[in-house]
Amino acid sequence: MKKVVWIVGVLVAAGAVALGWAYSGQYNVAADAPHWDVTTRALATIRERSIAVRAADLAVPNLADPALIALGAEHYAGMCTGCHLAPGVGDNEMRQGLYPQPPNLSQPRDRSPAETFWIIKHGLKMSGMPAWGVTHDDEAIWGLVAFLQQLPTMDATVYAAFTQDTGEADHDQDAHEHGDTEHGGDGSSTLAGATMGGSADAVGTHEHPDGERHDH
Ligand code: HEC
Repeated sequence: MKKVVWIVGVLVAAGAVALGWAYSGQYNVAADAPHWDVTTRALATIRERSIAVRAADLAVPNLADPALIALGAEHYAGMCTGCHLAPGVGDNEMRQGLYPQPPNLSQPRDRSPAETFWIIKHGLKMSGMPAWGVTHDDEAIWGLVAFLQQLPTMDATVYAAFTQDTGEADHDQDAHEHGDTEHGGDGSSTLAGATMGGSADAVGTHEHPDGERHDH
C-alpha cells in the first residue's frame, strides 16, 4: 500500500513539473527555431508509422489512365505548386518560411501511391499540409497521385503542356504564389492566407516586390 502511495505521488509530482514547464512558455514554438535532432527523428518515426498503418489497405486504381493524370495536372497546378514547386516554377517567400519545409515533389520520392493518396486526402497535422479530402473527392485525389507519378520525369516544357489548359482560376489558391503573409499579416493568419485564398482579404491590400498583381 505504502509503495502505491509513493508511485502515485511521484507521478503526480512529475505531471506537475511537466505542466509547470508547459505553462512557463519555455518551449519555443517559432517556425524558425528547428527541432532537436532527436525530436525530428521521433516525429518522423511517428509520422511514417501512422501513414503506413492507415494506407495499408487502400485499393489503388489504374494510375496510368491518361484522364486521371490530366485531372491531377489541373489540380496540382492550382493547389500545390506554391508549396511543392514544379518544373519551371520558381521558389517563393511563403515556402521558404514553412517548417517543416514542403518537399519539392518534382524530385523522385520513395513513397507508395497508397501512402501518397492518404497524405493528400488527410493532410499532416502541424505541418501546413492541408487535408484536401475536405474539399475534393477520392477521384480528384487519385488524379493527383497519378500525376505525381509522372511529375519527376517532366521538364518545364512538358509540365507546361500538361497544365496550360488547367482552370487555375477555378481555385482560389493563388495566394500560394504570392507570399502574401509576409506583408501585413498578423502572424496567426499565415496558414489561413496561404491555404484559403478567400481569406487573404483579411490580410489587406499591399504592394508586392515582384510587382505581381493581386486580386484582393
Ligand atoms: C501550404 C503548403 C502546402 C500545400 C499548399 C500543399 N502541401 Fe503537401 N506538404 C506540405 C508540407 C509542409 C509537407 C511536409 C510535411 C512533413 O514533412 O511532415 C507536405 C507533404 C506532402 C506530401 C508527402 C511528401 C513525402 O513523400 O513525404 C505529399 C505527397 C504532398 N504534400 C502532396 C501535396 C499535394 C498533391 C498538394 C496539392 C493538392 C499539396 N501537397 C499542397 C505543405 C503543403
